[in-house]
Amino acid sequence: MKDVQGKVAFITGGASGMGLGMARAFSAAGMKVMIGDIEEEPMNRAVAEINDAGGDAAGVKVDVTQLESVSEAGIATTEKFGKVHVICNNAGIGVGGKCETASMPNWKWVTDVNMWGVLPWRRRPCG
Ligand SMILES: NC(=O)c1ccc[n+]([C@@H]2O[C@H](COP(=O)([O-])OP(=O)(O)OC[C@H]3O[C@@H](n4cnc5c(N)ncnc54)[C@H](O)[C@@H]3O)[C@@H](O)[C@H]2O)c1
Repeated sequence: MKDVQGKVAFITGGASGMGLGMARAFSAAGMKVMIGDIEEEPMNRAVAEINDAGGDAAGVKVDVTQLESVSEAGIATTEKFGKVHVICNNAGIGVGGKCETASMPNWKWVTDVNMWGVLPWRRRPCG
């Protein structure tokens, strides 16, 4: 995609870190940005920051471990911006410590977010 002006990006985990960095960079390049995150407060701050700077951003609460939540976020994005041109499966988590001593709930959390959380987007929920 050579000309991103007016195109739409959806970024999971866009409320902080690298996701927020991408949202800022995409917006600065003229893209509309949908920020999806499980944390609503920082998500709303990120949306406000981009809009205050003259961008066109919106937010949608999404839990990437839940297929239904991802589907709803995709629908919300197309309702808001019409189409999605770029999807960034950025949401991710890390748990400290050694693999062999990590608890099963933490293994499940990490794989649910970092592995299974990426797969629903292959179904192209945004159309
Ligand atoms: N920072 C690094 O050095 C580094 C290195 C390698 C890979 N990564 C990966 O890059 C990505 C971004 O890393 P970061 O450092 O910016 O992380 P970060 O913690 O700053 O941001 C991650 C965002 O994802 C959101 N999130 C967490 N669980 C979620 C869920 N279930 N549904 C929706 N959103 C959820 C968080 O609320 C947060 O806003 C992650 O996938 C991470 O694993 C980061």
